[in-house]
Amino acid sequence: MRALRRLIAGFSLLACAVPAAAQELNLYSSRHYDSDRALYDAFTRETGIRVRLIEGDADQLIERIRNEGANSPADVFITVDAARLARAAGAGVLQPFRSQSVEQRVPAGLRDADGMWFAVSQRARVVMYDKEKGAPQGLARYEDLADPKFRGQICARSAAHPYNVSLAASILAADGPEKTEEWARGVVANMARPPQGGDRDQFRAIPAGQCGLAIANTYYLAGIGASERAEDKALFARIGVVFPNQAPGDRGAHVNISGAGLVKTAPNRDAAARFLEFLVTDKAQEMFALGNMEYPAVAEAPLHPALRSLGAFRGEPVEASRTNAHAAQALQIMQRAGWR
Ligand SMILES: [Fe+2]
Repeated sequence: MRALRRLIAGFSLLACAVPAAAQELNLYSSRHYDSDRALYDAFTRETGIRVRLIEGDADQLIERIRNEGANSPADVFITVDAARLARAAGAGVLQPFRSQSVEQRVPAGLRDADGMWFAVSQRARVVMYDKEKGAPQGLARYEDLADPKFRGQICARSAAHPYNVSLAASILAADGPEKTEEWARGVVANMARPPQGGDRDQFRAIPAGQCGLAIANTYYLAGIGASERAEDKALFARIGVVFPNQAPGDRGAHVNISGAGLVKTAPNRDAAARFLEFLVTDKAQEMFALGNMEYPAVAEAPLHPALRSLGAFRGEPVEASRTNAHAAQALQIMQRAGWR
């Protein structure tokens, strides 16, 4: 009997000695890029830890973690947009993650002050124009988009999309509610057509002359630039980019981050910690940058040549708590101004 017990103990010891293959973590993500899956596979190859991906809308995922409560299988939460990360932190579903490598590699401006989340990649929200017509004169700031001299020129997607909500929220934080409403009314008055489609549809309408100025994120344009198709190359060569608010003392171009945080109730905390640290390694940062044409969160990481060709810029610091506080008000203001 004792021998049998010893045998069983021996087996369970053996089982404990090879945990790598059995280890896994549950990743709740609202990002939906093929390049992310390649990144998770690379993590699994390196660590033996399996990544179970649960995809969904960010707010639904936050709600799901809340509803699952102490029994939530969620270990790591990843989403696009600082306001949503701040909402996750505010909803109490994240816990501080202290890591030397994250703190050394990700600049403070791209991390939550309480350690609840950090950026893994970023895109700039810029103004695009037709190079054949030349750079728009007098357009150096987002605020200039409201200038009547750009009447009938602006193309933008709907107000409700988080990319536009966050942009308006950053203007709200900088300029206050009255000026932001004035701005939104000016932009609506300058629109070439009612808001429709996604970011790509805005700059795709530039060569045909439908849109003189398009508001869009850099990674969409760089994605076109990375394409081998002749028509994409032609489009990319035609589109110019203005990085707004670059003058000394101005706040910088609005930057939209993707970020990650450790879930408060993470059942696989160690695996989650390894994964979070993996996200800021050279390898992962390169995959964000080269696979999805994003700006890496780590300054030394490489840029995709198509993205690099857009030029250097200074990004606005991400102060998500502020952005989040302003998001709801910013949307109201845009809608009141008639931005559909
Ligand atoms: Fe996007």
